[in-house]
Amino acid sequence: MKSFANVKGHPIHPALIPFPFAFLPTALLFDAGSRWLARPAWAITGFHLLQLGILSGLVAAVPGALDFLQRVPPASSGRSRALRHGLLNVAAIAVFAIVWSLRRDDRVTGATLALELLAVAVLLYSGSLGGTLVTRNLISVDHRHANAGRWRETRITAPAGTPVAIARADELERDQMKLVIVNGHRLVLARTGNGYAAFDDGCTHRGGSLADGVCIDGAVQCLWHGSQFDCATGEVRSGPAKKKIRTYEVKQQKDEVLLVSPPR
Ligand code: FES
Repeated sequence: MKSFANVKGHPIHPALIPFPFAFLPTALLFDAGSRWLARPAWAITGFHLLQLGILSGLVAAVPGALDFLQRVPPASSGRSRALRHGLLNVAAIAVFAIVWSLRRDDRVTGATLALELLAVAVLLYSGSLGGTLVTRNLISVDHRHANAGRWRETRITAPAGTPVAIARADELERDQMKLVIVNGHRLVLARTGNGYAAFDDGCTHRGGSLADGVCIDGAVQCLWHGSQFDCATGEVRSGPAKKKIRTYEVKQQKDEVLLVSPPR
């Protein structure tokens, strides 16, 4: 799913995280070297790397938090993974900050080294979770299969039960989809060979975003583990999902597509 914090489509968070991942473990190496190889000057380099790592980690956290809030599907396995990723990163940076405050006189002690080692271990584990968020949950991946078009998303507030326009009639081509957030509820508008269809955005397997999936031949496929659902009826065409997705009535009226009964 295309990153929310991006520059011309390029995600910012993955571009920034190499900095703390380079600075902070290297700070540990310099600090350990200063103590065990009797090179006291290395501690100064380690201290500066520590500062740079904390600072760059805080900067990288901002686009990461935006992607978490705006892009990771709610009530999904990716959401809990992203939450663990974020909290562990905050914990690691907090431990590095404690080390930094203890190191104001540039002295490396056994205690500060142990804390740095702990924080680096947490950082590496958290980084592996971040990698899974990209490679499995496709957060920040702006994939575009044939004819899918660009990522489309709109937010609408509407009285529940009153028809509301959610797209222009010519906005989507066949097999294209759009994420529509109505009153905070995420649903997908898809254009199939039989016209428009609308259904819940959340896959019933582990909550993957169907708006970020593939629409073809009247079915939508979740890219997390491959479940397929019929766009019109919501029935499962192929697992691992077992439960159908909820569908919504839509109709084309003049040059607009209307959601007949918006959810609360
Ligand atoms: S979340 Fe597993 S197939 Fe959709």
